[in-house]
Amino acid sequence: MRTDTELIKSLAYQTKDITTDRALVGTVSEKGRADFVTSVDTGVQDFLERELLARYPGTQLLGEEGRRHEIDPNGAILILDPIDGTTNLIYDYRMSAVSLALYDGGEIVTSIVYNPFTEEMFTAEKSGGAYLNGVRIRVTTTKTVSESLIAIGTSPYEKERADRNFEVFKNIYKASLDIRRSGSAALDLYYVAVGRIDGFMEQNLKPWDFAAGMLILSEAGGVVTDYFGSAVNPLANSDILASNGFIHASSCGFGNSFAKKI
Ligand code: IPD
Ligand code: CA
Ligand code: CA
Repeated sequence: MRTDTELIKSLAYQTKDITTDRALVGTVSEKGRADFVTSVDTGVQDFLERELLARYPGTQLLGEEGRRHEIDPNGAILILDPIDGTTNLIYDYRMSAVSLALYDGGEIVTSIVYNPFTEEMFTAEKSGGAYLNGVRIRVTTTKTVSESLIAIGTSPYEKERADRNFEVFKNIYKASLDIRRSGSAALDLYYVAVGRIDGFMEQNLKPWDFAAGMLILSEAGGVVTDYFGSAVNPLANSDILASNGFIHASSCGFGNSFAKKI
């Protein structure tokens, strides 16, 4: 299946009226411990689901906030996180993004990640490179972890992972320049892609958290694997280790020592 990246971009731009409407953020419910959903999340999901399925009938939609349907991995699938960084949105932290990927033929073929607060539109097509607002992007050329700035994701909805997680974060912090925590996994992945950080890791992300960012990063020259360095299935939950490629093997060391203990 072919999608029109320009069309998908224009639909994503149209979500800005919803994502920047502070009144909609006020309607919050808690799905789980520290896991919230607002009328912005559902509003963006409803808008994009309606518009995309009207244009691409027969396509399946795997969206965080939608009704869950049985997904056939052999068909085309749109993977949508209407707002990645909902807690940031509630706090007006201005670090959230709309994340959309098209999976077809066993791989991600088109991605967009749109941050309405910075007006940044990241796009990628398989084998076509990655772009920020139409300008080609590349990862950093940092060669060692000791010279690297690394983002960590804290798995905020699974506090039972905290002891092991923070053990590894301490080791990365000691071994690297410093660590960062953004509150949006999609944003972390495009920060690696555009060279604002050198790497990122978080346990047990969902397909809608990482699918779009994964293609953007690999098209920008980076590498995405699980903590053991193995390929990631974009349709299944996965630990995510992402980097500029140069520091990947040594970063797997942190992931490995961690993963073996859990
Ligand atoms: C979350 C964000 C956060 C990450 C969580 C995700 P949400 O997504 O990406 O940075 O730590 O693991 O679930 O809930 O804001 O869409
Ligand atoms: Ca998310
Ligand atoms: Ca979300």
